[in-house]
Amino acid sequence: MSGIVFLRTSRIDTLRDFYLDRVGCQLWLDQGDCVIFRHGNLLFGFCERDESDRQGLLTFFYDTQADVDAIYRSLQSVAVSPPVMNEKYRIYHFFAHDPDGRQVEFQTFDHPIDSYLSGETLLLTRRSIRQFKRAEVPAEILRQVLDISRFAPTSRNSQPYYFKVIGDRETLRFLSQTRGGSSAPIACAPMAVAVCSDPELSKRHIQDACIAAYHLLLAAWFYGLGTCWIAAMDRQDVKTRLDIPQSHYIATITPLGYPDPPLPAAPPRKELAEFIRE
Ligand SMILES: Cc1cc2nc3c(=O)[nH]c(=O)nc-3n(C[C@H](O)[C@H](O)[C@H](O)COP(=O)(O)O)c2cc1C
Repeated sequence: MSGIVFLRTSRIDTLRDFYLDRVGCQLWLDQGDCVIFRHGNLLFGFCERDESDRQGLLTFFYDTQADVDAIYRSLQSVAVSPPVMNEKYRIYHFFAHDPDGRQVEFQTFDHPIDSYLSGETLLLTRRSIRQFKRAEVPAEILRQVLDISRFAPTSRNSQPYYFKVIGDRETLRFLSQTRGGSSAPIACAPMAVAVCSDPELSKRHIQDACIAAYHLLLAAWFYGLGTCWIAAMDRQDVKTRLDIPQSHYIATITPLGYPDPPLPAAPPRKELAEFIRE
């Protein structure tokens, strides 16, 4: 389910330029005298009429204060005032006017929020995160991430994988030193999760654990949490330290926490044609 907020305007082309070029929205659907824009999961449309309807408030929200500062710099000429912290609502925000004189708000939340990413955005924006804020992951958010991860596919629905949550700083430091720079991100996060599997429960337990781990990476990002697949953790000393039976498999140990901005850009991908072979 989703929805669209519609407003009337008498200058659709000017609004098109404002929301596409200056605010950075995407054109979702063009129906001629009605255009619908998208900003993350927000769909909002304008329909051409004789008079503008300026009721309501469009609020665009971002991940960080730095993002709000950046959009403020580009909209400074139409901003009402610079961004400020609003303690009551725990938001950092500013107001601006669009070409109709409509008030629009740009903000970030100063507290963890429930998920809002669309499926496409979730898949396209997940990144390997190696720098984290100190903020702890709320227990309820962690529970939701692990709960969603239960829905990973497994061979014959055998569900042979399990998670080990690691919050002890000494253990995180130990794990971060197992593979030089490659494992270093583990110590930068407030916690880590080992995704393991039991060979007794499935012949395909390695594939099952890897898929479950990727499910976890996506579920974490759904809640704004960063992860990074750290490889080569299936080691004797790591299993001993984490009290994991030597016969079990560790797909990965991922750090888990809120990303420290700026988010890394996506490393370049090959063209689609190169992934498809005749
Ligand atoms: C099997 C596998 C092993 C990886 N091992 C490591 C690792 O040991 N350390 C690390 O920092 N990143 C590791 N990564 C993350 C990759 O470097 C990263 O996915 C890749 O550069 C693409 O970037 P993106 O995840 O931001 O799209 C690994 C990823 C995969 C899938």
